[in-house]
Amino acid sequence: MPFPVYLDHNATTPLDTRVLEAMLPYLETQYGNASSRHEYGREARRAMDVARQQVAAAAGAHPAEIIFVSGGSEANNLFMKGAAAAFGREGGTVAFSAIEHPCALNAARQLARQDWRLIELPVDAAGRVTRAGVAEALAQKPRLWSVMLANNETGVLQEVAAFAASAQEQGGGWFHSDAAQVLGKLPLDFRALNQAGVHALTLSAHKAYGPKGAAALVADRRLDIIPLIAGGGQEGGLRAGTENVAAIVGFGAACELAASRLDSLSVRLRRLQTRLEAGLVLLGATLFGADAPRLPNTSYFSFAGVEGETLLTRLDRAGFAVASGAACSSANPNPSHVLMAMGVPEDLARGALRVSLGVGTNDEQIDAFLLAAKVALTDLKNLTALQDRSRRA
Ligand SMILES: Cc1ncc(COP(=O)(O)O)c(C=O)c1O
Repeated sequence: MPFPVYLDHNATTPLDTRVLEAMLPYLETQYGNASSRHEYGREARRAMDVARQQVAAAAGAHPAEIIFVSGGSEANNLFMKGAAAAFGREGGTVAFSAIEHPCALNAARQLARQDWRLIELPVDAAGRVTRAGVAEALAQKPRLWSVMLANNETGVLQEVAAFAASAQEQGGGWFHSDAAQVLGKLPLDFRALNQAGVHALTLSAHKAYGPKGAAALVADRRLDIIPLIAGGGQEGGLRAGTENVAAIVGFGAACELAASRLDSLSVRLRRLQTRLEAGLVLLGATLFGADAPRLPNTSYFSFAGVEGETLLTRLDRAGFAVASGAACSSANPNPSHVLMAMGVPEDLARGALRVSLGVGTNDEQIDAFLLAAKVALTDLKNLTALQDRSRRA
């Protein structure tokens, strides 16, 4: 079994070789600017058109609804700030779940400086945004909403369509959902979500075996957005800048691949997740979000009295790459904002580790990981006992 074993697919996924192959011509001979009016430009434009269709197909959207951007972070910012800017100085209320990815949370918080009122929608102990919280927010008639489809730490799925439908029935507002963690793991149907009242979705290529630096905001054409980056008229005037054609081609190829293996992959991941979690429970783990519907690849857990960072380092040395809390905030010493919102005690939250499985994960790796975790936990317990004894002596 090759080491290190990669178990951090929610942070990023390996680039699939078929995706790389699709991209290579656009890094080598087909280097045209998609805005140029000669054959090089036309070839780049054609490739982007194909990618737009592939992304739209994987999202259940129309190609005209795809706005290519540089990352999931940009897509979330484009919705939050771009849609807010379209209201001019009027401001309003923005409602978003307390467990959004930091790129949505912090974009919303920036709006507070421009007279927007913020409502953080609470979650229950299983990590689900509550209907009661949404109902309470509705009274303020938010102009903007953002509730993610699946959380990147817990993998918990949210009742986005139902929330968006309530928002539409009672006051309207533009409704966005971050689907970065759903692409390639579970089916996506923007058309159905749109009919329920969802106006925009965030996707990111590198979460689904595509390249980093390519993503999309899937947006209802009625959604009024002021671009964050002004310039030439790329992406229907909503995102200026010469397009990263190779990455966009890779994003398209990754979407096609995702759609073709979605059913078989999600079943396989779910089986591996069950095997992993059964082993973790035997080792004494507390699983977070286990009472809610979740992504088939994500397991988030703690062992009482064990620091997550310490266990992560041990596992890393043993050849297993996992995450403690969200990868993006692993430099942040605070316990996960997601676990805090779920009411998890701080000491247990500090122990949180996330294992996220992917297409290359197999039974042998899961069993080897469980064995390594057992060894590391025994070592750490012995160490603590030794330290206690020497303190008492
Ligand atoms: C749910 C979610 N949204 C957005 C992002 C940001 O995407 P990107 O890394 O493409 O900027 C991530 C990445 O960690 C994510 O997990």
